[in-house]
Amino acid sequence: MKCVKVPLKELNDTRIKLMENGQMNMEYKIKAEKNYGYIPVNEDIEDYEIVCMHLEAMKKVPHNFSELLEGELTHGEIEELRTSFDTIGDIVILEIPDDLEDKKQLIGDAALKFTKRKSIYMKRSAIKGTTRVRDLEFLSGVDDSVTIYKEHGARLKLDVRQVYFSPRLATERKRVMESVLDGEEILDMFCGIGPFPIVIGRNKYVDITAVDINESAIRYLDENIMLNKLKGSIHTYCGDVRQVSQSFKTKFDRIIMNLPGLAYTFLDVSVDLIEDGGIINYYEFSDSYEQGQKRLKEACEKVGKQVEILNCRKVKSTSPGEWHIAIDGKVTKK
Ligand SMILES: C[S@@+](CC[C@H](N)C(=O)[O-])C[C@H]1O[C@@H](n2cnc3c(N)ncnc32)[C@H](O)[C@@H]1O
Repeated sequence: MKCVKVPLKELNDTRIKLMENGQMNMEYKIKAEKNYGYIPVNEDIEDYEIVCMHLEAMKKVPHNFSELLEGELTHGEIEELRTSFDTIGDIVILEIPDDLEDKKQLIGDAALKFTKRKSIYMKRSAIKGTTRVRDLEFLSGVDDSVTIYKEHGARLKLDVRQVYFSPRLATERKRVMESVLDGEEILDMFCGIGPFPIVIGRNKYVDITAVDINESAIRYLDENIMLNKLKGSIHTYCGDVRQVSQSFKTKFDRIIMNLPGLAYTFLDVSVDLIEDGGIINYYEFSDSYEQGQKRLKEACEKVGKQVEILNCRKVKSTSPGEWHIAIDGKVTKK
């Protein structure tokens, strides 16, 4: 192995210079002896004494997921897998195409090594049913589907097998939180484990009513209320919001409706419960903003109210040509 031999006191400066010039051979370790240091290089270098030495090879650590699966999967297959990673706390959820079913263990083990997380699961179904949960199959690491996810300083405990949660909505939650004013009375109609209430409640002096039909989600939200230092207060209710809300004595300054597939069927409830001048944060799956705006307007008109559309956004892509869309509407009496 060709090495540059330098007095020990020049070793570090020389190493930096050779590295910057791309002349150092990074696959071997530098050796330091009593008076001299030996730096592995790729070629003879002018102005330096070159000697031949045996140097220890660097342990070859695969740097990424692709390197771990090299030779097992095609480049295209690896790229497809890489974009499917969802990391929630110390759990990784992968989408493995049907034609790679026989390699799922290999892929799971590589994902465990690459991500250094606790558990790897693969998606076994789409998000489905009233509680919006998907089937998961354990692949690698520890089969423990409970984790704590950190978002904007909030700690959110959840079981990925029992409740809905998407880390891809973090920016949307921050945006909504930033638009909230201290003193607001807020209703989250489909709160899940409470990412909106917790992120808002940590930052604003508000009063939040949070409803979900999934018992596990409400159990985790109750834990999350204890896990976080909140400025605001959060009251939880388990049940169908259409029924539960009948006992509410108050109107709300803001209503969050993040059940994008079905939120439109609950617009009669939210339009009834919104305070004059209050804001509905409405969500739906669509290829445009028109449908959601129309639904909000029609729901308001039915009860003699009107809506001013304040803001429309694409939160995330759900399938080609379809988006998870957010519409903020200010509702007033006519
Ligand atoms: C898409 S998830 C959103 C959860 C949460 N807002 C979030 O951003 O993570 C929708 C939630 O609505 C709940 N849900 C569905 N139908 C409901 C209903 N009729 N009343 C109350 N909650 C309902 C589900 O259990 C699920 O947790």
